[in-house]
Amino acid sequence: MANLAALELDRPETVISPARLRVVLLGCGTVNTGVLDALELMPDRIEIAAVVTRRRRPGQTGRTAWLTDIRDAFDTGPDLVIDGLPDCPAAEKALDLAVERGIHVISANKAVIARRPDLEARAKAKGTRFAYSAAVGGGVPVLETLQRLTASGETIQSVRGVLNGTSNFVLGLLEQGIGFDQAIAAAQAAGFAEADPSADIDGLDAAAKLALIARKAYGTAPDTQSIPADSLLAIEPGQVCGARENGLRYRQVAELSRSENGDLDARVRLIALPEDHPLARVENEENSVEIVCESGLKIVLHGKGAGQAPTAGSVLADIRDLLSGGEE
Ligand SMILES: NC(=O)c1ccc[n+]([C@@H]2O[C@H](COP(=O)([O-])OP(=O)(O)OC[C@H]3O[C@@H](n4cnc5c(N)ncnc54)[C@H](OP(=O)(O)O)[C@@H]3O)[C@@H](O)[C@H]2O)c1
Repeated sequence: MANLAALELDRPETVISPARLRVVLLGCGTVNTGVLDALELMPDRIEIAAVVTRRRRPGQTGRTAWLTDIRDAFDTGPDLVIDGLPDCPAAEKALDLAVERGIHVISANKAVIARRPDLEARAKAKGTRFAYSAAVGGGVPVLETLQRLTASGETIQSVRGVLNGTSNFVLGLLEQGIGFDQAIAAAQAAGFAEADPSADIDGLDAAAKLALIARKAYGTAPDTQSIPADSLLAIEPGQVCGARENGLRYRQVAELSRSENGDLDARVRLIALPEDHPLARVENEENSVEIVCESGLKIVLHGKGAGQAPTAGSVLADIRDLLSGGEE
């Protein structure tokens, strides 16, 4: 580990005050290209040890090693791993290895983090950072807001919103009479949808985000697969178009609430909302989230939920927190 001064606290998490972090980027697609561009402007605080991609990048030169083997990248001795991989076994193994080796993790990979709650728990027990602000809301600070609310003594009653920018973007195009495949291709070209967009379309991406929200709000979460989710494929594109003509807009709405006996209810539904409903007014890749606390406090967050700049911005905020030794 390079030059890390660790300050022990009276809880398992440890606040770090590093001078310079040695960083490995896992993946360099939409998200991590933006992260890399920003980190290259911070040579006094960040050293890029390696970047790992699936395919070779023979044209890449300079001091950074461009690798295709994740283990080779770990052998460069990073302090921090930034995970911009898709949901895949390689990502799960990489995060496992990072936690095992006591390497800080910052990830945008909501599917893996939701499926493997042990990763965060083990990292915390070891005193290493495991942050994933970008995994929910893209650039919208959903998890950060929940963290602050619970830290200030609020109890979360419910969270409801449009959490998947890709499906919202696709629904917007279907409303205009554009075909499903063309709408997906446009979402991919814009950097919102991954190569395999099925998790977005089937509501699993929103379900994984709900699981992470529940973990932040209540310290426990339902299994993503157990969350009922409507698929966009269950409705005809013409239905979306027809609804719009009748003053209704289909939205993929993710909902989480806790009953008085503490049971969590989470679901992802496709709902036709009146066009003046706040969630109906969420456009393109935007996300909008309403958090209601038992005290009556209500907070509405709104902003870009996908795409390079907002998502990389959230990853960078986690990096700055780590560099400053601030709270997760
Ligand atoms: N895009 C968004 O707006 C957004 C928003 C929030 C969260 N996220 C999450 O952020 C993560 C990254 O998303 P993205 O949109 O940046 O994905 P992306 O553009 O598809 O990039 C994925 C990167 O991972 C690399 N990769 C894939 N499998 C690999 C393997 N087995 N070994 C090594 N490298 C591998 C790819 O390599 P090649 O370049 O060689 O193909 C590529 O560089 C995902 O988990 C996603 O859910 C994305």
